[in-house]
Amino acid sequence: MKDAICEFKAVSKDYSVRHSFFASGSYRIKALDMVNLSVKEGEILGLVGESGCGKSTLAKIALGLEYPTSGQVFFSGYDIADFDKTRLENFRRHAQMVFQDPFSSLNPKKTVFKILSEPLKIHRLCHKNHYRERVIKLLKEVGMDEQILNRYPHEFSGGQRQRIGLARALATTPKMIVADEPTSALDVSIQAQIINLLLDLQERHKLSFLFISHDLPVIQFVSHRVAVLYKGQLMELMPKNAFLQSPNHQITKSPNSLNHHHHPYTSLLLSAVPVPDPKMGVEAKKRDYGLIYNYKKDGYQKGCAFFPRCSLATDKCGAERPFWTEVAKDHFIACHFMT
Ligand SMILES: Nc1ncnc2c1ncn2[C@@H]1O[C@H](COP(=O)(O)OP(=O)(O)O)[C@@H](O)[C@H]1O
Ligand SMILES: [Mg+2]
Repeated sequence: MKDAICEFKAVSKDYSVRHSFFASGSYRIKALDMVNLSVKEGEILGLVGESGCGKSTLAKIALGLEYPTSGQVFFSGYDIADFDKTRLENFRRHAQMVFQDPFSSLNPKKTVFKILSEPLKIHRLCHKNHYRERVIKLLKEVGMDEQILNRYPHEFSGGQRQRIGLARALATTPKMIVADEPTSALDVSIQAQIINLLLDLQERHKLSFLFISHDLPVIQFVSHRVAVLYKGQLMELMPKNAFLQSPNHQITKSPNSLNHHHHPYTSLLLSAVPVPDPKMGVEAKKRDYGLIYNYKKDGYQKGCAFFPRCSLATDKCGAERPFWTEVAKDHFIACHFMT
């Protein structure tokens, strides 16, 4: 196995949420709950999960923009919480971000030249006289022309802005890029261009990517490995081929006919079928209400996060966190029915 460039060890992140604007008091939610995961050198690790499951929180923690409530984050083997000024600067240079919204992530008052030469200046990567040459090279990398050097972000389309955003991330010759929904704000036809560019750059520079999306087909297409997150808990981690060779995506009510290839939540994502049995939906809702009550009282959930929605769930699932089980080579699932 390759070395990890970025490693999360038992990372949890709590946020305090107020009951309402008028009422006093607050409760804590666990945006991330004991996440163990690593991005290997030169790989694209895809992170998929529905909105609000904690993907952006993990992205921010990976880049040291937020700190975990508990747990550790390692970059190239070092705990980022221990970095002194020099190490932190080095880390900021080697771990870059590509944002979801290309319309707000570029400063509207700065020209393309200014946007792309700034990281060179901040990290003192070359002499002032070489900025222009370097910036032109960066633009070429992302398929853009030097004629745009003096233009402003508002003059470009979403896809072009995302290219400029990628060029900015590449300026510091990073080792890892965290891309949080980089194509979600773009038209479908443009999405494909940006994804292909991203794959091309990844190969050319042997970059590591933490690629985040709620879009399953996109994740399937780009990733070498796929991690599935649900309400802050990792449900499954698998190599790309395990994701593609999924014979049966339906979840069934009987544990005996359970599809052992995937976590029930992954199966649900893959089948894209909402709860199939209406009666089961009612049962699940009852459990869900119970859970919300406990959730506020206990501060977090003891068992599997998918428990309220799972057609297989038993009391044990609500009470105990399932262990991470290796069901095939490099394929891990956290589910009581897998052990
Ligand atoms: N600064 C914050 N304060 C309070 N709650 C937050 C904050 N940031 C995120 N959350 C909550 O944490 C959960 C995860 O959010 P996020 O990581 O943005 O999810 P995703 O990117 O998967 O949509 C959500 O319930 C969100 O409301
Ligand atoms: Mg997000």
